[in-house]
Amino acid sequence: MEIAASILSADFMDLRQSLKQVDSADFLHVDVMDGHFVPNLTFGPCVLQNLSQYTNTPLDIHLMVDNPTFGIELFKELKPAYITIHLESTPHLHKIIHHIKNLGFKAGVSLNPATPLNGLEYIIADLDLVLFMSVNPGFGGQKFLPLVLDKIAHFKQKFPTYSGKIEVDGGINAKNALLLASYGANLLVVGSYLFNHENPTLALQELKRA
Ligand code: DX5
Ligand code: ZN
Repeated sequence: MEIAASILSADFMDLRQSLKQVDSADFLHVDVMDGHFVPNLTFGPCVLQNLSQYTNTPLDIHLMVDNPTFGIELFKELKPAYITIHLESTPHLHKIIHHIKNLGFKAGVSLNPATPLNGLEYIIADLDLVLFMSVNPGFGGQKFLPLVLDKIAHFKQKFPTYSGKIEVDGGINAKNALLLASYGANLLVVGSYLFNHENPTLALQELKRA
């Protein structure tokens, strides 16, 4: 199992120390929120522009914004491994996914909990990652919604040849990580469970074994 540590739950007044705590994560998950698509605001590129001086962990950028094209422009300088946009945020999914890929990054699409799989059919072959939200996006520390398990099972039935990442985000802990692994998830976003843990390094090791 690969783990993306969500810096939404980090200590923003001591980000450097927070980054050290999750040094062994496979990715740093960066939640970009605009106050419109979700009722919360997070960080802009100014806050994160020097991130690469303090960590070598590849970035997994999750754009929860109404204008994903603008978000991509803002964050492309960070040279992330993945940029993921929401299916609900744009009628121009094909164009934007190919824009991300042309910039040299891997591209993902995220689905809110109630969003059906319809709409992925004609883009699935181009995707490197599908991100299933297991909470309503906007905040860390929410309760895991088990409906995502059924959704992943349907996804695997519907797209049996899909070979990209199956990422899940929201309310993940050591217990439901095992369940998600058994359903075929292979990249888990973990925020509050990690940063609230007395030993984040140990917690990461345990999650990776899932
Ligand atoms: C929620 C974000 C998540 C959040 C997960 O909108 O997309 O990435 O940081 O945090 P936890 O693990 O606390 O649910
Ligand atoms: Zn996220």
